[in-house]
Amino acid sequence: MSWERKHLLDIQNLSKEEILAVLDTARSFKQVGRRSIKKVPALRGKTVVNLFVEPSTRTRISFELAAQRLTADIINFTAEASSFKKGETLKDTVKNLEALTADIVIIRHSSAGAAHFLSRVVDASVVNAGDGAHAHPTQALLDLYTMRERKGDLEGKQVTILGDILFSRVARSNIWGLQKLGAKVTLCGPPTLVPKSFESMGCKVTYDLKEAISEADVINLLRIQHERQQHSMFPSLGEYSKLFGLNKERLSWTRPDALIMHPGPVNRGVEIDSEIADSDRSVILEQVTNGLAVRMAVLFLVNGGKEPEALTAKDTPA
Ligand code: CP
Repeated sequence: MSWERKHLLDIQNLSKEEILAVLDTARSFKQVGRRSIKKVPALRGKTVVNLFVEPSTRTRISFELAAQRLTADIINFTAEASSFKKGETLKDTVKNLEALTADIVIIRHSSAGAAHFLSRVVDASVVNAGDGAHAHPTQALLDLYTMRERKGDLEGKQVTILGDILFSRVARSNIWGLQKLGAKVTLCGPPTLVPKSFESMGCKVTYDLKEAISEADVINLLRIQHERQQHSMFPSLGEYSKLFGLNKERLSWTRPDALIMHPGPVNRGVEIDSEIADSDRSVILEQVTNGLAVRMAVLFLVNGGKEPEALTAKDTPA
């Protein structure tokens, strides 16, 4: 199949074939990253805007590098130093960026639905880099890429997502993506952050950490999203760590080949102990590396790129 979409807004609306098209294209771009000359001219003459209205390290920088590797012009929009501060709306801001020839707008925003809204009111392609607690599609795609690279086909694989599920766009996007690729998803964490209602998405919900992690092929740890919580959802970080943090003893409950993942930023000593985060069981930095290839693939595809087998010498010079 061909990728036909102009925007990447969420994972929920992607088919399995579309997800695989992104992952296969990313594999080609990962190869490009191993060459001495890591750039391809696939987006030459195009203008990409990084519009981040919420803080980011990994997503913003990897989108910037992805655009550069594709030879696009990249504009990094800093909300704090912009006319947002004078009351300009999001729509007017992006309309002005389009007047400056923006072809692709990558948006991170604290409001769920911001990327969908933009896709309805502007002509540019819109890529969602995280909207509130709703969706973080490129994080889910890079997580899926990393799991498939390490574990092969995800059909029947057991993936446990541990931590703050309720406020996590990463959790929601991962759940959709994993289930579309046939994985079985277990959610675990404090009951206030892992409501039973997630069972309606087809997940298993448990508050028993040993049960959650002992048979998992992959354990994806999530940070507590304090910025989206109106009030504390558990007594203290110390208590969270004591009950749900991944430490050496709890690692011994897991299968020896279970992957330890985390989207970052990591709160060391809270959801994961440093010695595990830095161990060879952890693929946290591999996820970041794969994020670059996945974001190159997404920019390439929303710009009308071809399927990976159709990449020409022009797109991927030897
Ligand atoms: N994982 C992730 O979205 O990290 P950033 O907030 O640093 O982009």
